Amino acid sequence: MYQTAEMPIECNDIFCAETAEDYAHQKPTSFYYNRERKIKLYNGDCLSILKMAPDNCVDMIFADPPYFGNQTGLVINRNDGHAASFNTCKAAWAYSKSIQDQFEFHHAWLTESRRILKKGSTIWVTGTYHSIGIVNVVLQDLGFKILNDIILHKRNAPPNFRGSCFRAVTETMLWAKKDSSGKTKFNYKTMKELNGGVQMSNIWNYWAEKNPFRHPATKQTVVVEKAILAGSNEGETVLDPFAGSGTTGFVAQGLGRKCIMIEIDPQYCQLIADRIDGKYGQFRRKTTT
Ligand SMILES: C[S@@+](CC[C@H](N)C(=O)[O-])C[C@H]1O[C@@H](n2cnc3c(N)ncnc32)[C@H](O)[C@@H]1O
Repeated sequence: MYQTAEMPIECNDIFCAETAEDYAHQKPTSFYYNRERKIKLYNGDCLSILKMAPDNCVDMIFADPPYFGNQTGLVINRNDGHAASFNTCKAAWAYSKSIQDQFEFHHAWLTESRRILKKGSTIWVTGTYHSIGIVNVVLQDLGFKILNDIILHKRNAPPNFRGSCFRAVTETMLWAKKDSSGKTKFNYKTMKELNGGVQMSNIWNYWAEKNPFRHPATKQTVVVEKAILAGSNEGETVLDPFAGSGTTGFVAQGLGRKCIMIEIDPQYCQLIADRIDGKYGQFRRKTTT
């Protein structure tokens, strides 16, 4: 889109150097930029911020978009060691939407994501059974090549207290490549080594750990860690358009990657900045060879 053959623009330059000329129309201002650790955060709507990025500029995308399953105004009280209660009035982004609206939302951000991914690079998108079906259809509609549906099995998921259906212990993460062309960016050998020398399967078991954040949907670091190790190399750039509590940036920083995050809620942006600055503890790698 904004790239010419004579002057290829690297996303790292664009997002990290803040060069005004590199933006064809407007330059977003970062909420937070840890220059030393190369972690950058934009506060805003990813639907508009992604449009400002040049074509073919990021090495991997990790996205945990809204599931659109929340009822309006619900207050969830919890005594599980996380923040004590969560008022969904403050999470309008997660409210239910019509199927058509969800389709259009996912179509909009995934169109831009595909455009800015480098050739052979991949996107990882998580979701529940409510949301992932629509994401799957949109990915295929846009020309992504779906590589795997990775089943995230939470070993310590809570029971279904009412006994009205089965205990839900999984989420799905779709892993897809920009398109069918070129070699897939995949650190196959690393993942095999991490799995004791045996080919890693698409079922990822993990134990959910508690955290002190006031965010209702923080991803477990081990899941993001495995995705980043599989889909990117040290020094490369990972992008997360729905940063939440900043897990992607936190893990990317710990693994020596650059990271660009976008988050619409300024309170979450402050949480992300604090987290990257180490207020809630340093990154500790969960996978070992
Ligand atoms: C499911 S949470 C992501 C959680 C994140 N993976 C983590 O580990 O903390 C989705 C996040 O997307 C943000 N969000 C919703 N719509 C957005 C949009 N259009 N642009 C940017 N962020 C958005 C919400 O504020 C919320 O924090």
